[in-house]
Amino acid sequence: MKVTIDGIEIDVPKGTTILQAARMIGPEVAPPAMCYHSKLKTSGGYCRTCIVKVTQGSAANPTPMPKPVASCRTEVMDGMVVENFINKEVLEARKGVVEFLLINHPLDCPVCDQAGECKLQDLGYENGAASTRYEFKRREFEVIDIGDKIKLHMNRCILCYRCVKTADQITNDRVHGVISRGDASEISTYIENVIDNDFSGNVIDVCPVGALTDKTFRFKQRVWFTKPVDAHRDCKVCSGKSRVWLKGEEVLRVTARKDQWDEVEEFICNSCRYDHKKTSDWVIEGPSPVNRNSVISQNHYEHLNQLKLQVLKQQKALGFMPLDKKP
Ligand code: SF4
Ligand code: SF4
Ligand code: FES
Repeated sequence: MKVTIDGIEIDVPKGTTILQAARMIGPEVAPPAMCYHSKLKTSGGYCRTCIVKVTQGSAANPTPMPKPVASCRTEVMDGMVVENFINKEVLEARKGVVEFLLINHPLDCPVCDQAGECKLQDLGYENGAASTRYEFKRREFEVIDIGDKIKLHMNRCILCYRCVKTADQITNDRVHGVISRGDASEISTYIENVIDNDFSGNVIDVCPVGALTDKTFRFKQRVWFTKPVDAHRDCKVCSGKSRVWLKGEEVLRVTARKDQWDEVEEFICNSCRYDHKKTSDWVIEGPSPVNRNSVISQNHYEHLNQLKLQVLKQQKALGFMPLDKKP
């Protein structure tokens, strides 16, 4: 099936969504997505950040769709034409979506563990308005424990349902979910302290904001002062392929690896995540890839090494002798 997104045409298999097709082209046309997650079935359709304009429904029926549609839930049709970043109406509507997502959101970034790797920060920066029109009282919740390793800051939750689907699909016994509806909706376990299974920690990794935080990492370090490396270990429960966040020799936290869309590649078990916090527990593979635009890439040695190589190449081309080789 042929689909054109922001003027770029691509062939995709039947059943591909507009968002997936856009990701196949690349980040220059891919809409942001806060609730869709490629590893979770039936995710998407909640946040509306991925909206696009379908200016031609298909080759057979070229009528445009009257309203912007959620690209994560809309399948492409042959000959469909889609506009995302080149469409002013979409950008304006997305600004409104961000305003809604931030209606109840606290100004916690300076103390929030997610800062620096938060999808909502990126979304607000790239698509948000400078101010809000909302004048009413914001929803407020107490911070609560969900199990002995996870804290829930419901104030920061955007109700994307990713954690609910993760618990549903990769653990045997989901014990939390969204209760109530509308502006009374909240993530709840009914009885606190009850998430307890081998893969429960993955809800932290899928949360696009700082609503579910790792209690073993809380307030330990700003993420941009840590060095993420890809590492693995022999694990009987999961693949053991993880991302280990170092400060010097200290392992500050262990997470799943994420792909270029910040979505988990493979879910990891709680033993890898919480019980192996020594560098000797891991076989280090090398620096994790970090998006150049990310604050974590500041002084990231993956880039420093590239820079050093470039400098050495230039020195060689110019006939300079390296400082340490000078007589
Ligand atoms: S979740 Fe993101 S936007 Fe919200 S306070 Fe934390 S870092 Fe800031
Ligand atoms: S806690 Fe996080 S993952 Fe769960 S619904 Fe809220 S924002 Fe989404
Ligand atoms: S990513 Fe499509 S609606 Fe949330």
